[in-house]
Amino acid sequence: MDPRRNPFSPGAGSPPPELAGRDALIERAAVALDRIRDRRAARSIILYGLRGVGKTVLLGKIRRDAEARGLVTVAIESPEERSLPALLVSALRLALIKLSRTEAAKQGVKRALRAIAGFAKLKAKFGDLEVALDLEPEPGLADSGDLDLDLAELLGAVGEAAAERETAIVLFIDELQYVPETQLAALIGALHAVNQRQLPVTMVGAGLPQLLGASGRAKSYAERLFEFVSIDRLDPDAAADALQRPIEREGAAIEPDAIAEIVAQTLGYPYFLQEWGKHSWAVADASPITLADVRQAGIEALAELDDSFFRVRFDRLTPGEKRYLRAMADLGPGPHRSGDIAERLGRKVNTTAPIRNSLIGKGMLYSPAHGDTAFTVPLFDQYMRRTMPNLT
Ligand SMILES: Nc1ncnc2c1ncn2[C@@H]1O[C@H](COP(=O)(O)OP(=O)(O)O)[C@@H](O)[C@H]1O
Ligand SMILES: [Mg+2]
Repeated sequence: MDPRRNPFSPGAGSPPPELAGRDALIERAAVALDRIRDRRAARSIILYGLRGVGKTVLLGKIRRDAEARGLVTVAIESPEERSLPALLVSALRLALIKLSRTEAAKQGVKRALRAIAGFAKLKAKFGDLEVALDLEPEPGLADSGDLDLDLAELLGAVGEAAAERETAIVLFIDELQYVPETQLAALIGALHAVNQRQLPVTMVGAGLPQLLGASGRAKSYAERLFEFVSIDRLDPDAAADALQRPIEREGAAIEPDAIAEIVAQTLGYPYFLQEWGKHSWAVADASPITLADVRQAGIEALAELDDSFFRVRFDRLTPGEKRYLRAMADLGPGPHRSGDIAERLGRKVNTTAPIRNSLIGKGMLYSPAHGDTAFTVPLFDQYMRRTMPNLT
């Protein structure tokens, strides 16, 4: 059918033509953020789940909705590449500039900008930190050089500025699993301190399931501040909506058994639904899209995934890491006991631990329970068997 009208949009962070099955969660997030703006008790949200389930697009949707309701939002990009303090300082400065857009900056905004200037003291510890000196630092404000203390003071000042404007500042942080634990703990501790004063600053986060592994005091604070919401594949009705509604909006149709086939092949994973939808549309000569079209499209969709979604992850691995994943794939989709994987490799479990750790660091694996290991990418076991037919 007409490629110009193909509605589907596979791709990391690409907004889907129909954001199916997430309405209740979007509303829950909106209620929480509005309550925080109104300085009422509420827990913000952290989304966790495998790759390709739709965390990034949800974060984007929650953010756009919040902006539309007058909240001040800032997105923090790629914590894999820069330190959290560096990212926070530029994001918060942007938020303060947005906050002061309507009239001449009030006291609160000015003080918060001074707190940012105080952050220059942390440059020795975070080499990538760049601090814009909009205003002179205020002696004693966020300039101790200790991240925990300075971040708490900075967020406190930012919260007062937001309260003065009767709005909230909301940080959106994707790929939270890449933030080093001490930096994340500092942020959570600081958010906890502002929360205790009911100041309207919060974060909405997203990341891989290993996020849940954080420990100690940061964990108990995090549980008080955030509702951790699992984002998973779509149930069959939502998956059908994700396919059917965009097709019908283009004035075309898809047969029920064709939908059922896509849902079965993709297991309802959002990324795969987009890929199958796109190829089914492309393969079909005319509306309605049939079961035969979908069967042909499935082959092409899989080839494209192998070349993109799966491949970008595979290319970042060392030969030893590839072998480890291949051994896991031999055992099936998982999760698997770490000992069983080592055995499959003919090695002792303590000698494979460093490889497993580096794969967790790269966001390829996570540990759903102590001693268990699972893929963060759905259907990765099948991909590993296709791309490395033999484990040797
Ligand atoms: N609720 C949904 N319904 C339909 N498609 C979705 C949905 N959520 C995400 N998608 C699609 O899935 C793909 C992956 O989304 P993304 O947000 O990048 O996932 P994640 O951040 O979890 O890896 C994108 O192509 C997006 O359009
Ligand atoms: Mg994402």
